[in-house]
Amino acid sequence: MTQLQQQTDFANRLTFHDSLQAAEVDFSRVTFSSKEQVDRIYDEIDQKLAATGQRWYFIVNYSDCVIEPEVWADFAARGKNSNINHSLGTVRIAASDKTRETIRERAKSDFFRSNIFDTREAAIAAVTNMRRHNEALKAHQQPGSGVNREAILRVDDVSLSFGGVHAIEGVSFQIERGEIFAIIGPNGAGKTSMLNVINGFYHPQRGTITFKGEKRVDMRPDLAAAQGIARTFQNVALFKGMSTLDNIMSGRVLKMKRGIFAQMLYWGPALREEIEHRKVVEDIIEFLEIQNIRKVPVGKLPYGLQKRVELGRALAMEPDLLLLDEPMAGMNMEEKEDMSRFILDVNNEFGTTIALIEHDMGVVMDISNFVVVLDHGVKISEGRPNEVQADPVVLRAYLGIAN
Ligand SMILES: Nc1ncnc2c1ncn2[C@@H]1O[C@H](COP(=O)(O)OP(=O)(O)OP(=O)(O)O)[C@@H](O)[C@H]1O
Ligand SMILES: [Mg+2]
Repeated sequence: MTQLQQQTDFANRLTFHDSLQAAEVDFSRVTFSSKEQVDRIYDEIDQKLAATGQRWYFIVNYSDCVIEPEVWADFAARGKNSNINHSLGTVRIAASDKTRETIRERAKSDFFRSNIFDTREAAIAAVTNMRRHNEALKAHQQPGSGVNREAILRVDDVSLSFGGVHAIEGVSFQIERGEIFAIIGPNGAGKTSMLNVINGFYHPQRGTITFKGEKRVDMRPDLAAAQGIARTFQNVALFKGMSTLDNIMSGRVLKMKRGIFAQMLYWGPALREEIEHRKVVEDIIEFLEIQNIRKVPVGKLPYGLQKRVELGRALAMEPDLLLLDEPMAGMNMEEKEDMSRFILDVNNEFGTTIALIEHDMGVVMDISNFVVVLDHGVKISEGRPNEVQADPVVLRAYLGIAN
């Protein structure tokens, strides 16, 4: 195809889908090889987007699209500019491994989520999820919209003590479906204890937990898991001698209907089930980009990767609510960025509600929608990350400034 044909064709390569609130950009089979060409195409796209007077979710098709290395910087700069001015979020379709890798690399350096899918259907499903998530978020951020909010979990007036130690005192909050919820606070504030109450490891002396509309004085860990709560731990809790693959597979145990007897009696169905579980596990391994360590015993892995495997095991439970206790503790900057991206992707692509404990305020600001602050077992503040960060009560708790 000549450049002229590409240019004239381009008019048909931007399609608006009003029902999805999406603008679909078709770069399939286009080769970007000069700055002029990149500018010409983006000028046209930007102009059309601006004319609509609204923002769109972008679906960008990169199937068999080639971006020559010399124009990558220009291409990325124009893409970023369009995103900033016109986008509500972007998903990408890419068939070739090479394009995928290039996009992933850019994503790493620019800290955007790569959101790459094999098929258009998967990309559209992801946009639908993104919209749902953003709507939920908007509802949460609207003052006075409390009645319409759908809480997946409510904690009401929970108190927990160990002998004389009051780990949690009269704490209440709610976690909305689809959000990323952060619990922060100084050491010993009661954060881990709170997660332990939510998934039934600890039984509070007072208060109630309401999960998916069902109210309880306490949870049982097995019930919590069966009902869709998965969890990772402050100190990695994996089977160190077992491979990555087997550790993640162990997260499927609850989902396995056919036990050892079924395997003996009717091994046909049991085998089919085993194959299905393997498929889920392999998908998770690919999603977390840990194919190269699938056979490695996790005890041999660096800490950052062990944390990622532990996330994989929790994901294998296909939870509705994922509890993460300091998922980035002990990680360097790059590992933290990777982990942040995976958490955002889990939330975006699977719509999983996430409650996490995190000490790094930068991370909390970047990825969470709502924050609760605990100090000495008491809730001292809550709100959007920027509100909480500026709250003098919170600053005082962290810095130990005298009143
Ligand atoms: N099983 C337990 N037995 C006795 N005391 C406990 C137990 N679990 C927690 N505590 C106490 O409860 C308080 C809160 O601990 P918790 O681990 O929940 O804090 P945290 O906010 O997670 O702290 P960190 O940031 O250090 O992880 C602490 O005083 C702790 O010593
Ligand atoms: Mg803790």
